[in-house]
Amino acid sequence: HLRGNRPETDPKAAISHVAIYGAGIMGSGIAQVAAQSGYQVALWDVTQADLDRGIQAIRKSLTRFARKTNQPADWVQSIVSRISPTTDQLAACFSADLVIEAVVENLSIKQNLFSRLDTVAKASCVFATNTSSLLIADVSAKLSDERKRRTVALHFFNPVAVMKLVEIAYMDGTDPELLTLLKAWVLDIGKVPVLCRDTPGFIVNRLLVPYNIEARQLVERGDATIEDVDTAMKLGAGYPMGPFELMDMTGLDTGYHIMKASSVSPTSTRIWW
Ligand code: 3HC
Repeated sequence: HLRGNRPETDPKAAISHVAIYGAGIMGSGIAQVAAQSGYQVALWDVTQADLDRGIQAIRKSLTRFARKTNQPADWVQSIVSRISPTTDQLAACFSADLVIEAVVENLSIKQNLFSRLDTVAKASCVFATNTSSLLIADVSAKLSDERKRRTVALHFFNPVAVMKLVEIAYMDGTDPELLTLLKAWVLDIGKVPVLCRDTPGFIVNRLLVPYNIEARQLVERGDATIEDVDTAMKLGAGYPMGPFELMDMTGLDTGYHIMKASSVSPTSTRIWW
């Protein structure tokens, strides 16, 4: 039924090169799905070791798919060869039509990265943040006004290769035609887009973060064990993982950054929940 929803826009006419910043769990997953759908991908990280780990994770995930779907022997390599790993931050985005940043959940690191890339990226290049908890307005604060109109959030979910959702979040000034293009791009990489205004946590994390915090507090109060909370939410609420299993998978360090960022948003002193 996705084909029925497919907008007229051909995303490959506007986007052929994607630059992804951060080769961690999210960045490498996004690089994988983009390359799998035929896009040329530049993948940047600070060190060669970070890049090697990212490419290794991509190979492992693709090999799993290849086995399951009986792909020819060179399938994995043909996809990996569309990904160019680099530690050269500026060069990674020279030919990019779409930049997606998936670096650590730290506002000034994201702001500084975007403002450096703004000086060298094509004027038409779209900037997207995969932030879990920051506002696009804050991440894009140091960008030129023209670039801000082409800046959104493209928020993927872990594990990227498997999870079908991408939240597309936009600001009041975001070019509306850009949203049509990005919806088409998200469908083209085999995912389902939902739209959301630039509001803390967008949709999923606005609900998931307080849920995770409440789960932790239940255990801290001694009301229930970790195992029983996980079992309860799997068997009583139909979630595929309990909150602690999920926090282990997304990473406790990521969870820490999200909670810190979400408790005091720079543009709003209100706590989310
Ligand atoms: N690469 C390729 N394929 C993979 C894969 C990977 N990395 N991981 C799993 N798969 C495939 C498996 O091969 C399997 O395929 P099949 O059904 O066709 O055989 C399928 O995915 C399911 O995998 P498994 O059978 O190994 O495992 P489960 O059935 O237990 O599912 C799960 C694993 C998909 C992770 C499921 O437990 C789940 O949906 N968990 C919840 C995940 C979730 O909520 N993620 C969101 C986190 S929040 C977030 O990311 C936001 C951020 O801002 C913090």
